Order: sequence, then C-alpha cells, then structure tokens
Amino acid sequence: MADNNDSDTKKWSGRFEEPVSALVERYTASIGFDYRLAAYDIQGSLAHARMLSAQGIITQDDLSAIEQGLRQIGDEIRDGRLEWSLQLEDVHLNIEKRLTELIGDAGKRLHTGRSRNDQVATDIRLYLRASIDEISQLTRSLQWSIVNLAENHTATAMPGFTHLQVAQPVTFGHHLMAYFEMFKRDVTRLSDCRKRANQLPLGAAALAGTSYPIDRRHVAQSLSFDGICENSLDAVSDRDFAIEFCACAALMMTHLSRFSEELILWMSPAIGFVSLADRFCTGSSIMPQKKNPDVPELVRGKTGRINGHLIALLTLMKAQPLAYNKDNQEDKEPLFDTVDTLIDTLRIYADMLSGIRVNPEAMRKAAMQGFSTATDLADYLVKKGIPFRDAHEIVARSVRYAEHKMCDLSDLTISELQQFSAIIEDDVFAVLTLQGSLNSRNHPGGTAPEQVRAAIVRAKNWLSEEKRD
Ligand code: ARG
Repeated sequence: MADNNDSDTKKWSGRFEEPVSALVERYTASIGFDYRLAAYDIQGSLAHARMLSAQGIITQDDLSAIEQGLRQIGDEIRDGRLEWSLQLEDVHLNIEKRLTELIGDAGKRLHTGRSRNDQVATDIRLYLRASIDEISQLTRSLQWSIVNLAENHTATAMPGFTHLQVAQPVTFGHHLMAYFEMFKRDVTRLSDCRKRANQLPLGAAALAGTSYPIDRRHVAQSLSFDGICENSLDAVSDRDFAIEFCACAALMMTHLSRFSEELILWMSPAIGFVSLADRFCTGSSIMPQKKNPDVPELVRGKTGRINGHLIALLTLMKAQPLAYNKDNQEDKEPLFDTVDTLIDTLRIYADMLSGIRVNPEAMRKAAMQGFSTATDLADYLVKKGIPFRDAHEIVARSVRYAEHKMCDLSDLTISELQQFSAIIEDDVFAVLTLQGSLNSRNHPGGTAPEQVRAAIVRAKNWLSEEKRD
C-alpha cells in the first residue's frame, strides 16, 4: 500500500486543522479489504454517471471522459498496476482520486448527487448478488454429485440410526437424498435472500436524498436491480441483506457440517462404510497407519467461524441509530470471509463426494446388528390382528432370545419364532430380511428402493429447471 502525502489526499479534509495520526489512519481505513469491491464500484459509478448525463446534470463530454477513465482504472486494477493508498481510506476515494488524476474536473463531477454512504451500500449489494449466484450454482453442482452417488445406491442397505443406535434399515441412497433436500432448501432460501438484496440504494446520497433531478429507476434498471430502496434513511443504513445472507450461509454450513460428521464417523475403521480419496486426507506424523479425514473435519470446524460472522453482523447492527454510521464499515470482512469459506467448501465437497468409495458389505453387516428389523416383525404381527402393544412385547421377547443366541431375528427358525406367537408363519422371513424391510416402506418419502429412484427422478428434474423461486 502506498503512502501518499499529497495535501489534496483526503476528499473531506478541508475543514480539519490537523491530520489524523498514522494509527487512526490505519484504524479507520478499509482499503485493506474493500479493494475487493472495486469492480462493483466502477460498475455503480458508470451507471450513476450515465444517469447524470441523461438527466442533464453533467455534460455528454464529462460522461465520455468518466467512461474512458473508469475503463482505464478497471484495466489498471485487473493488471495490478493501481497502487492502493491507505491515506485515501477506502476503495471509493482511491478510485475517485485516480479518475481525477486521469481526466481532471470531469472526475470531480462524478460524485454529484451521491455519497459514499449510498455508494458503498450499492457496491456490497452488487457483490453479494454475484456471490449468491455463484454459491447457488456451486450448490447445484454439489447436489448433482449427491444424486449421482445416490443413483448407485438406491438398494444398498445400511443401518438407519436414532440416538446413534441402530434403529431401522434404510438405503444409502435414501440417506444421501436427505442431504439433497437440505441443499434444495438452501438454494431456495438464497434465491429469496437475493430478492431483498437486489434493491438499489443509490440516490439516497448521504441519508436524505439529493436536490438534483436524478432518475433512480434508470440506475436500478441499468444495474439489473429489481427495484429501488424506498426510503433514503433505510437505504444507507440497511444491512439486513448481509445478515440474511450470513444466516443462509450458516445454515448451509450446518448442513455441510452434519454431512462431514457422518463422513468422519463412516470413515472410522470401526465402522468402515466409506473411504475418501487420499487427496482429501492427511497422514499422522507419528502413527503410520492413520488416514485422517482432514477436509470434513475442517468443514465442521469452519462452521464455527461462519456462525461467528452471523453473530458479528447482528451485533454490529443492534444499537445503531439511523442512518449511516461508520460501524457499517465492519460489515465487509465477515461477509467476505463467509462467501469465501462457503465457496471453497462447496467446491471441495462436490469433488470429494464424486471420489468417495462405498463399502456396501460393511453397511449391510452393520444393518444386521442391533435387530434393525424388529419393528418389521411387530408390524407383521399387527397386520395379522395382534394389537400393537402386544406385538411390541412379543418382539421384545424374540429379540432377547436372539440376543442370547447371538444371532439376528431372521436367523431364527420358524418354530423358534412360533414360541413367542403361534400366529407367525413362513411368510415372516420376507419382512425380517433387510431387503424385505426396505421394500415394505414403499410410499412417497419412504426408504424403499423404488421410492429412492422416484426421488432421484424428481431431484434431476428440479436441478434441470432453468429458473426457480
Ligand atoms: N468505507 C466506508 C464503509 O465501508 C464507506 C462509507 C464511508 N462513509 C462515510 N460517511 N464515512 O462503510
């Protein structure tokens, strides 16, 4: 970052008698992070300048100079040739100063009818809108990875858990599709959040609007905003959209963290349901046999910092009076880090799932342990006319017997089973096996392979739709 002691450096310094100290300068500057908004700042400035010219507030010549100057600055930034200055505080003043260097007075006219307050609010909304679009796209790629994996495992039996105890058999495909549903909600939540973010603050100026005959709808349209922020005070002070986005992101990370927790458990040699490709794991410096699931562990860990960013933004806003306050400058780092972390996580996850290796035999064996078809036996008895409570008791006694014999319910002979209820017949084995149990849960939302296949068809249709709300 360059030191620039030009007396004209601070655009607002005319009324001050002494300069700020170097520490205050560093403390108050945002250029160290808001340089990331540069492309959006230029985009917003171009739209503003074109409106000023269309309204006769600046001349066509000024507009042409501004367009040419901003284009050049855009190139300089892209090629890393523009040196950001700490004295110029933020991205807005850095760009404006450079523009004035390049084109003179026309550069100074760009800020007519505008303030950094509505300017920064516009920049963040443009940045967030683009980020939401990228995140939605990446989430869809992750959903494709889930669907593709689920498609190979529509009939793969695994234990379903409640309380992390074996409960009932489920198909691995069904288990995976539960995550598809979570991410589907996330995508729709993001698209809802986008609507509220996609409103134009420009025109609010510092807080009260401006006396120039501006055309806000013209600017909104040219920047593809859905509309304008209706109240100038709200326009410059509102950061709800950032909070809302961080809440969506925190939920997404929560889903990814839960998925990670399962992958970590499944990868433990004691369980061994899956293994991750080596490129997502690391070894131990002391224990040569170790293959650690670092990536899912870090996803779980990074969820903490994303939750932290949400709380940071809520706290940032909670006691702010209207309208703009410098506190708002603190909105950027949490927001940027949330976007960056989420984008990296989604990218890595889609890749990780496509490289996963599944061990159906380990899943099947685990599903056989813990009497996962006990409920199926109870349902069988109920269908033969036994009241559910009595059926529950009959099954409990059968389970105790099988446990004693150290075998599964489906390993008992028909006469052994009949000790507990004479009503049991040979057809019981159709429900006691894993496949029988799975096939019987054949209704929308159930785990039967047929239903999982139907869910996958619906999922693919949803993913293929061009646009959705
Ligand atoms: N860097 C500032 C921010 O990020 C820009 C707005 C400054 N406005 C002001 N009145 N000082 O919020």
